[in-house]
Amino acid sequence: MPKILVTGGAGYIGSHTIIELIKQNYKVIIADNLSNSDIRVLDGIEKITGIKPEFHKIDFADTKATKDFFDKQKNIDTIIHFAAFKAVGESVDFPLKYYKNNIFSLINILENMKKNMVKNIVFSSSCTVYGQAERMPVTEKTPIKKADSPYGNTKQIGEDILMDFGKANPNFNVVALRYFNPIGAHETGIIGELPKGIPNNLIPFVTQTAIGIRKQLQIFGNDYNTPDGTAIRDYIHVCDLATAHVAAIDRLKNKEKFGNFEVFNVGTGTGISVLEIVKEFETVTGQKLNYKIVGRRKGDIEKVWADTKFAEKQLNWKAKRTLSDALSSAWKWEKTIYNEQMTMNK
Ligand code: UFG
Repeated sequence: MPKILVTGGAGYIGSHTIIELIKQNYKVIIADNLSNSDIRVLDGIEKITGIKPEFHKIDFADTKATKDFFDKQKNIDTIIHFAAFKAVGESVDFPLKYYKNNIFSLINILENMKKNMVKNIVFSSSCTVYGQAERMPVTEKTPIKKADSPYGNTKQIGEDILMDFGKANPNFNVVALRYFNPIGAHETGIIGELPKGIPNNLIPFVTQTAIGIRKQLQIFGNDYNTPDGTAIRDYIHVCDLATAHVAAIDRLKNKEKFGNFEVFNVGTGTGISVLEIVKEFETVTGQKLNYKIVGRRKGDIEKVWADTKFAEKQLNWKAKRTLSDALSSAWKWEKTIYNEQMTMNK
């Protein structure tokens, strides 16, 4: 089976994608600098799949290290490039850190792809490229607005770099996936999201509040122009997001038919408000959540959800799991890490 290099493979979306790749018999190599991930995820992958993929600790923003790494690799068929910084707020405070890491790494990888004749790349983009769109749902043709954060800008620039690279190098193939909001964890509760410090994202904050690590969830704003006043997002189960990468690899096998640069929305097609998340979490888990409404968070948009028709038709892919599946898996995972922590502290 083809060999897939997964950069950022020890991270949240990367690790779940690796499970799906192994299920489809792909040979996986992981490369990660572990700056925002934990090597123990490899044990989790092994526990779930029976296979411990080859691992390399490497920082792709380092040009020499990247070259040395690729020079030793043989027969990589496709790269799935997850490795990037992803905290929107942090990117506003430390823009150069974001531009340097996210853009240098992409350029280094593309240069080495070319040199070593690695033909295919799947790029982690984000629905953040749309900003606050005028019309919902957003399609792949919805105009791209000026990015709201350096993080978002690295995704827009990343797509542009890949498009130009594709034009100049017709033998190389690119699929960019615009992720909506990934949530949840593997259904076994063995792997999941591991936020460092206080979580920025809604679901880890919800589960940490429910388990007692955080006192109270703050809901950022209930004065949006939405049915209940709270902001709306398209929350996709991380395992569904993972299968979209397998579909993207299949697509790359047929590039002659489709051109060598394509972009797809990867969401569920349904918009859910923050209050709906809270209510669904309470129903699914039986946990009462302590929350209060506070002011809007700077930089947040009011609403976004995906038009998924293009991905459904062209990738033959659709999100299958429900919001309830996602929230119960996130809760199961939170309990796993909490119990692990308790045992370690004893
Ligand atoms: N929210 C709260 N309280 C919290 C955390 C979040 O009310 O403690 C709200 C936010 O205001 C927002 C919603 O929950 O309305 C979702 O917030 P997240 O931080 O979970 O996700 P974002 O939509 O802000 O950001 C995510 C990813 C980014 C990506 C972006 C694209 O984290 O990487 O989606 O829209 F760029």
